[in-house]
Amino acid sequence: MSRLDYFRICSLVLFCALVFSVSTAGATSEKKENFCVNCHSQLLGSSFVGMKSHAWKGSIHQTRGVTCDKCHGGNPQAMEKQAAHAGVLGSANPQSSIYYKNIPSTCGKCHGAEFYKFAQSLHYQRLESTGKGPECVTCHGSMATKVLTPDTVVAVCGRCHNEKMGIFPFIPQKARAVLLLLRESRALLDTTEKLFPPVKGTARARSLDAARAALYSARLDWHRFDLDTIISHLQNVYDSLQEVRTQ
Ligand code: HEC
Ligand code: HEC
Ligand code: HEC
Ligand code: HEC
Ligand code: HEC
Repeated sequence: MSRLDYFRICSLVLFCALVFSVSTAGATSEKKENFCVNCHSQLLGSSFVGMKSHAWKGSIHQTRGVTCDKCHGGNPQAMEKQAAHAGVLGSANPQSSIYYKNIPSTCGKCHGAEFYKFAQSLHYQRLESTGKGPECVTCHGSMATKVLTPDTVVAVCGRCHNEKMGIFPFIPQKARAVLLLLRESRALLDTTEKLFPPVKGTARARSLDAARAALYSARLDWHRFDLDTIISHLQNVYDSLQEVRTQ
């Protein structure tokens, strides 16, 4: 087996494992009635708990069957509040799954790839040591979980990376540029694949695979927030796509 084949098989296995873990995790109890959702949807939106509860509606987690208990614990089959709440703790309790320092591992149960990289970041180190690093919810929100875009990322990073706080104030603009580049690279890869359909076993197909692998690494490394490494992965994407065009 050549090294390239070995690499391709490994990345395929890893990819399938990740897709499988994310796509099945949320779906298991979809059919059964969920009393967390039932009861909480009756609460008034003007109360704090009601407002939090309703924010989940319409989120990607709702559509994928990721119910309240998946993040908060408790017993979703219990109709009574007290029985249902067994094990559900408020965000101020350090034992809670939603205590800010525990959030990465709570989300990481399903988003293993993001958590794996995030755990290697300076952000994570600072979160653990001083509590000042961001966690998943800082950037994505808890219930209406959104993916940031080049336009929305500036304000989010800028909450800490600004002149006043003095920690790397150039980062928001750099993050915007890198995120743009990431999206452009993805689009360029798709177009190149359409223009130059790969034939199995050819040099062109191998270059396209290399481009795809480099893009995957770039997306994965995003959660380590090492922007220069991401840029170098994207450089590899471009180089490989250039090969595809000239082969
Ligand atoms: C029968 C109604 C009912 C059911 C069932 C229910 N809840 Fe609640 N929940 C409430 C009410 C009402 C509150 C507001 C605070 C209170 O009265 O205890 C609340 C509060 C909460 C809070 C805030 C707790 C805090 O300490 O700040 C969370 C989180 C929560 N519920 C999650 C869940 C989860 C997860 C489930 C399912 C496993 C669930 N609830 C099932 C009615 C319910
Ligand atoms: C994807 C994970 C996730 C899901 C699904 C989810 N929550 Fe949350 N929720 C969180 C996190 C993380 C926090 C803490 C951060 C925050 O307050 O935004 C939180 C905060 C809350 C709070 C405030 C609790 C406190 O002590 O501050 C309530 C109430 C709540 N959620 C209720 C619900 C209900 C009801 C559902 C289902 C309709 C639900 N959540 C679904 C992750 C989730
Ligand atoms: C029980 C599993 C589960 C948990 C726990 C969970 N998620 Fe998710 N999440 C999913 C699934 C399933 C999707 C649907 C999209 C997919 O397949 O990637 C999703 C989607 C997302 C998306 C949107 C991805 C996209 O491409 O649109 C974000 C962002 C996200 N989750 C963040 C979080 C955060 C932050 C937490 C913790 C507060 C969390 N998730 C907890 C299962 C989960
Ligand atoms: C400092 C901000 C920040 C933190 C902290 C953060 N993310 Fe993200 N996340 C982003 C941005 C920006 C994107 C969009 C990247 C892109 O477009 O490829 C993203 C993308 C995602 C996606 C979508 C991935 C995809 O390829 O579609 C998921 C799921 C996700 N994050 C989950 C998490 C989880 C889980 C955590 C915590 C362990 C976390 N994020 C921590 C900023 C953050
Ligand atoms: C809640 C505050 C907070 C937010 C929001 C935040 N950061 Fe940070 N960031 C920090 C802290 C704290 C450090 C560590 C500073 C130090 O101790 O040197 C840091 C460091 C960094 C570093 C340097 C990492 C290294 O390994 O040298 C980068 C790059 C970075 N952040 C990128 C981002 C990006 C991109 C975003 C937005 C998507 C973001 N940050 C959002 C608090 C934040």
